[in-house]
Amino acid sequence: MTTTTTTAHTNIALIKYWGKKDEHLHLPYTDSLSLTLDGYYSVTTTSFIQAPNDQIFINHHPASPEFFSRTEKFLNLIRKINHSSQKIEVKTDNFVPTAAGLASSASGFAALAGSLAKLFQMSLTKTELSALARLGSGSATRSIFGGFVQWHQGHNSQTSIAEPILEKPTFPIRLLSVVINNQAKKISSTTGMQQAVATSPFYPQWPHIVQQDLQHILKAIKNQDLEQIGAIAEANCLAMHALNWSARPAFSYFEDTTYQVIEAVKKLRQRGYLAYYTIDAGPNVKIITTSKDLLPIKEYLQTNFPQAQMTALKPGPGLQ
Ligand code: DP6
Repeated sequence: MTTTTTTAHTNIALIKYWGKKDEHLHLPYTDSLSLTLDGYYSVTTTSFIQAPNDQIFINHHPASPEFFSRTEKFLNLIRKINHSSQKIEVKTDNFVPTAAGLASSASGFAALAGSLAKLFQMSLTKTELSALARLGSGSATRSIFGGFVQWHQGHNSQTSIAEPILEKPTFPIRLLSVVINNQAKKISSTTGMQQAVATSPFYPQWPHIVQQDLQHILKAIKNQDLEQIGAIAEANCLAMHALNWSARPAFSYFEDTTYQVIEAVKKLRQRGYLAYYTIDAGPNVKIITTSKDLLPIKEYLQTNFPQAQMTALKPGPGLQ
């Protein structure tokens, strides 16, 4: 086989990954837990080529130097594992609306790992694929599986892997992505977490917080308790951002509108809707809700934030 195509969906962390104990292997300081989403995904095709260099295209355009070097690093790693020197062409299409503000590195590296594993006929299990995707980007570890996924921090490359917790949730969880700003983030996740680990006096508390939140959210998922899932995710997200606020120098991903959307979510909750928020390494807000409350919440936000771009999302599948 000389050409293979793989699709992977992006995921949103409900219990965040924020900090690496091994920068090279992307081994995190904590476990994390996410929901794979249906609407946003990457389709990646890889082929062996006869050329002096790798060729990398994203959305039909040659990759930027930054994207090229990150992808090439991953290709080098795969070649090393397979004792190969074959040059490779990578074509990735990101079906993440350009303004989605949701990490495309999760779906991108999961799809790339899947496609390359097929290209090199590596016959890996999905668990082994999750370890491979992790070497591209931490959050990609979780995008190998659908639904709720736990990434076990592990202590080496073989044990830092994802596990599906509930691949096809039957309860009506929905996510509303509220995009405030579609510009690239000022501080990448990689840099942000490095700074938080190195300088926040609260960082030593983070593993304890995650451990507790994880125990509670696993129970909430088992009990199909959406209210609890949302409340735990929101608290965990705030704890993650508090690490950035307490870094030295301090930094924040929030913008004015981020705070306004947070206030709107709180107001909606007071009115009786199930609405909780989570925010990653950027200003955009993702609202956790139910299929029943999704529409009124979307309408309220659309009225109050006419500039924001909103997308409703459901749990999505694993690697295809
Ligand atoms: C805030 O996976 O993008 O979205 O491993 O350095 O590529 P690297 O970082 P990345 O970090 C994601 C951080 C987060 C939380 C999460 O997805 O768990």
